[in-house]
Amino acid sequence: MIAFPPQPYCHLSQVTVVGAGNVGSTLAQRILERNLANVVLVDIVEDRPQGIALDLMQSRGCEGHNRTITGTNTYADTADSDIVVITAGLPRRPGMSRDDLTQVNGKIVMETVQRALDYSPHACIIVVTNPLDVMTYLAWTVSGLPSYRVMGMAGVLDSARFQTFIAMELGVPPRDVSAMVLGGHGDLMVPLPKYSTISGIPVNELLSQERLQALIERTRNGGAEIVQLLKQGGAYYAPASSTCLMVEAILHNQSRILPVAAYLEGQYGIQDLFLGVPCRLGLKGVEQVLELSLTEGEQAALSRSASSVKEQVQRCLQDLSV
Ligand code: NAI
Ligand code: 2OP
Repeated sequence: MIAFPPQPYCHLSQVTVVGAGNVGSTLAQRILERNLANVVLVDIVEDRPQGIALDLMQSRGCEGHNRTITGTNTYADTADSDIVVITAGLPRRPGMSRDDLTQVNGKIVMETVQRALDYSPHACIIVVTNPLDVMTYLAWTVSGLPSYRVMGMAGVLDSARFQTFIAMELGVPPRDVSAMVLGGHGDLMVPLPKYSTISGIPVNELLSQERLQALIERTRNGGAEIVQLLKQGGAYYAPASSTCLMVEAILHNQSRILPVAAYLEGQYGIQDLFLGVPCRLGLKGVEQVLELSLTEGEQAALSRSASSVKEQVQRCLQDLSV
């Protein structure tokens, strides 16, 4: 028998993913296969997270990683996580208003954030559940965490969609395209051609205004286009990839500049709201909110988006008596 020397202390990162649905289970897979962290997958439905975890454990040999995943219905199993990602919630169903969805998912987000933080009080929270900007505000309110530890995922996804459409239009690889979308995750999001480039060339130089406008509209409609095609449920591959990028930036302290829903305290003239803006992400969480110079039109569009999110947040807090 070979005697191995005692291992020096080494912190193995752990990410809790709440919600073992399409986004949550795909995100778990991405985190494991990128060898970023061990994962605990929690869901309210008995046996589902356990089944997904067992399936993913059995893929480790083929995928060549040694990370572990635990599927559970018990928050005690999530203890000491570095990051908690909230994907639990319902999609909007026919006949359900936006406000109905906000109330249902609001209750789920409040409960899951509180229960996860009971066991990981210092974790960073990434919210994915919709309506995104409202749920992120709610998560922060009930968490009691400093605002830089709480953020929402939407801008990375919306920018990835804009990046994809530009790349497809020009026949270039997506990695050559850098695209930027700010604002709330909804019809009023603000794609910014001025800050979108192809190998450093401003997108306006390579695309006509008419084509660019069509790509902007397609980006704004990006989630709905997929819902229409799938008939049941929404997008989850690109949402999981986008969330994974944020997880990686935090765990690896990358200082990456990514658009995320972050707490604003006067930046862009917006107070007390989570909204999509470019941020520096690292171990601490949101380490800096970057303020870009915007044209009058872009600033007006961002303010419009902020007003709409603010109204939804106020209604949500009132309805849920928070
Ligand atoms: P899904 O329906 O496949 O999964 C949701 C999961 O949450 C289900 O497994 C369900 O059992 C679980 N769940 C419900 N209540 C729970 C609770 N109290 N505790 C623990 N788990 C609970 O939905 P999908 O497609 O994974 O989407 C999840 C959420 O993410 C939705 O709100 C969706 O709109 C949102 N979304 C947001 C995106 C963004 O850009 N921010 C992109 C894609 C989805
Ligand atoms: C998406 O943008 C619905 O938020 C979801 O795909």
